[in-house]
Amino acid sequence: MQQTALTVHQTARPHGFPTAADFAFVESPLRVPEAGSALVENLYWSVDPYHREMMDDLPGGFALHAPLEGRALGRVVASRTPRLTEGEVVFHRKGWRTLAVVTPEEIRRLPRFDGVPLTAYLSVLGGTGLTAYVGLTRIARLQEGEDLFVSAAAGGVGTATGRFARLLGAGRLVGSTGTKAKADRLTREVGYDAVFDHHEGPAVELLAKAAPSGIDVFVDHVGGEQLAAAVGALRDFGRIVRIGTISQYNTPTRSVPRFDHADIVEKSLRMEGFLVRNYLDVQDELYEFAVPHLQSGRLALDETVVDGFEHIVDAFLGMLRGRNSGKTIVRNPAPS
Ligand SMILES: NC(=O)c1ccc[n+]([C@@H]2O[C@H](COP(=O)([O-])OP(=O)(O)OC[C@H]3O[C@@H](n4cnc5c(N)ncnc54)[C@H](OP(=O)(O)O)[C@@H]3O)[C@@H](O)[C@H]2O)c1
Repeated sequence: MQQTALTVHQTARPHGFPTAADFAFVESPLRVPEAGSALVENLYWSVDPYHREMMDDLPGGFALHAPLEGRALGRVVASRTPRLTEGEVVFHRKGWRTLAVVTPEEIRRLPRFDGVPLTAYLSVLGGTGLTAYVGLTRIARLQEGEDLFVSAAAGGVGTATGRFARLLGAGRLVGSTGTKAKADRLTREVGYDAVFDHHEGPAVELLAKAAPSGIDVFVDHVGGEQLAAAVGALRDFGRIVRIGTISQYNTPTRSVPRFDHADIVEKSLRMEGFLVRNYLDVQDELYEFAVPHLQSGRLALDETVVDGFEHIVDAFLGMLRGRNSGKTIVRNPAPS
C-alpha cells in the first residue's frame, strides 16, 4: 500500500491579507524512502512571516498546488541510510506536511542540551533567536548601557531581542506591539521598560513619550511609520537594524512614510539590513551564549504553541494578525 502524507498547498495568490481559502490540506503520495534517505514524522512546525512573502508571485516563492516547505523538527521513523538513525530528532525544511522523506544533506542534527525543550530549536535557539542575536551583536554591535527601541517587540524575534539585549547589558529597552495585554506582558515578564501599542496614535508621538531622551539602536521588524519615527529619535552614531517590514507584507500598495534624510548624515546614523541565512556560522556562538542562560533560568522561552497539524494554516494567519506572543510553533500532539 502506498503511504501518503497530509500536506498543505497554496491554491491562490492573495491580494492583501491571506485567508484560509488560499490554502488546501491535501493527501499527497509519499515517495518511499530510497537507499540513502529516511522517513521523518514531523513533530513541530515553524510558521513565519517570510511564508507570507513567499505566497506572492515572486522568484523563489511558493508554487501553487504543491506541498509547501518550511522549518520543522521531525523524528526519523524509518531509515535507509546509516547516516540517519531511527528515533533521532532532526531539523529540516520540509515542513507544512505530516511526514517527509529527507536525505542526510537535507537535515541538521540538533545538539541536545540538558533541560532545553525541543521547541527552543525553532524559537530562541533557531532561526528566530539567531536573527535576534545577529541583529544585536553583528549589525547593531550593541554596547553596554545603550538604549534600544524594538518594533513588533512581542513577536518571536522581538522577544528574543529584548531578552538577549538585557543579558548583553542594554540600557533602557522600549518596544512596540499591537495590544495592551502584550505590552503589559513585555514589561512584566520580558524585561522591557516601556512598551506602546502602535494602534494608539502616531508613532512619532508614542515613541517620544516612551523614549523621551532618545535611543541608540532601533531594531526594526515593521518598517513604515515606526521606522520614520525612529530615525528622528536616534542619537548621534545611532544604528538602525533592518530585520523585517511586516507592515508592508499585506498592504504592498500603502505609501511608505518619509523621514528626514539629512538626519542620517547630521547624526552619523547607520542603517543596515541582513538575512539570517547569511549568518549561519554564528549558530554555535548563539548556543554558547544562550544555552547556559536557558539552563540557569535567566532566559525564558516566549512561544505560542498551537496543537495539531490541522491548525497550521490558522496558526500562520493568526501570527500575521498579531494573535501570537513570542514564536509561533505548531505541535504534533500525538506522534506515532
Ligand atoms: N532578516 C531576516 O533574516 C529575518 C528573519 C526572521 C524574521 N524576520 C522578520 O522579522 C519580523 C518578525 O518576525 P517573527 O518571526 O518574529 O514574527 P512575529 O513578530 O512573531 O509575528 C509577526 C508580528 O508582527 C506584528 N505585525 C503584524 N502586522 C503588523 C503591522 N502592520 N504593523 C506592526 N506590526 C505588525 C504582529 O504583532 P503585534 O500584535 O505586535 O502588531 C505579529 O505578531 C518579520 O518582519 C520577519 O519578516 C527577518
